[in-house]
Amino acid sequence: MTDTSQTAFPEGFLWGAATAAYQIEGATRADGRGESIWDVFVRQGGSHNGDRADIAADFYNRYPDDLRMMRHDYGLTGLRFSVAWPRIVPAGAGAVNAAGLDHYDRMVDLMMELGITPLCTLYHWDLPQTLQERGGWLNRDTSQHFADYAAVVTDRLGDRVKRFVTLNEPWSAAFMGHAQGLHAPGLRDYGKAGIAAHHLLLGHGLALEAIRAQASDVTVGVTLWLNSIKPFSNSAEDLDAASLADAESNRIWLDSLLAGRYPERLVQTLPCLADPTIIQPGDLELISRPLDFLGLNYYVRELVKADRGVPVTGYRRLPAPGPTNYRGDSLSPEGIEEILVRPLVDYGCTLPVYCTEVGNAFNDYVDPTGRVRDGGRIAYFDAALRAVRRALDRGVDIRGVFVWTLLDDFEWDAGFSARYGITYVDYGSQKRIPKDSALWLRDVARRNALPTL
Ligand code: FCB
Repeated sequence: MTDTSQTAFPEGFLWGAATAAYQIEGATRADGRGESIWDVFVRQGGSHNGDRADIAADFYNRYPDDLRMMRHDYGLTGLRFSVAWPRIVPAGAGAVNAAGLDHYDRMVDLMMELGITPLCTLYHWDLPQTLQERGGWLNRDTSQHFADYAAVVTDRLGDRVKRFVTLNEPWSAAFMGHAQGLHAPGLRDYGKAGIAAHHLLLGHGLALEAIRAQASDVTVGVTLWLNSIKPFSNSAEDLDAASLADAESNRIWLDSLLAGRYPERLVQTLPCLADPTIIQPGDLELISRPLDFLGLNYYVRELVKADRGVPVTGYRRLPAPGPTNYRGDSLSPEGIEEILVRPLVDYGCTLPVYCTEVGNAFNDYVDPTGRVRDGGRIAYFDAALRAVRRALDRGVDIRGVFVWTLLDDFEWDAGFSARYGITYVDYGSQKRIPKDSALWLRDVARRNALPTL
């Protein structure tokens, strides 16, 4: 007899795809949209091959067909989408652009009609450029502007959208954007990443309040990218380095949001986290206000090795042994179990959890028969979803999984060179081709269960 408990998911489990505005919408000049820091960053050469997202997958114009495809052809019941702040408040603060709101309003209406549950991310990295010119996330005022924008969106969409995510991956926005120079705004100053991190979290706390003040029956969470991090060896140096890396990648967010503090260990490398002119009285109380759910993204498993030659942090991150992807990151789908159980195991957090991103890039191509046989992605999803199932068995209240991503897209610094979609996009013709993984996922969603082994 088949043991279905190993493969079936709870009733009402959401099977969805995740997306982000800047990565698929294109139409960067349409309907009064302001500039974002990403428009400027790519113009300055921040993306592979100088790729630009001005057209991307043209989702701004093609969303009706894409939504129908995901619902009717793939059987997906959830869409995680993001609203582009520069479409709503083009200068970041002040005047609201009605045409921008109308666009998302129509899109949400169609989701309702099709029976798609929306999960709306308010900040997926496209900060209005005008605010960057005033310091961006290094300026404390940005946090309040974010909350004001969040209130405008909730006021318009909150009658239909019941799940809002304030921030997507504050780690990436803070550290890739301000310490590594890989993401907009392209700064390389570790200390500044700490300040940006705090202001992002403050923006989250203020937005949480603002959203709830607009619509009492919506739920609000935040999406974190948590990594599986292990020391390279059992040496005291490696153990300490791994604990520092864990504090930067994982605990800075979990400690502040769930326990109202910053990890002690991190203050050595980021003294701003103990500076009362930056972390002002009441900030951590605001940041740790109760959430309605947690969104967790999973991508990498790494080993951390002490290395005195590395400035500031004194460590290097290496991929865990085994296959790696185009970025040299380890391909270890099963690592998702560890990050999904962590809030419960380490913090006693029993909040509902959405896996808001899981997926990877593979070398997808259209074969001579017109098919995209992405078996590597299917194997990746299969292993990840079995690990999600194990996390459910360990008591984590997981309500749904959103795969990254619906359509091949503009992958930030990697431009169009990395394909993560379950739908192949031929950028020239804008033709969509469902990859084999989309059809595999359709069967999982329909049966609400994984294939038995
Ligand atoms: C995550 C981002 C998402 C996408 C994936 C591959 O860090 O949230 O926008 O680029 O990585």
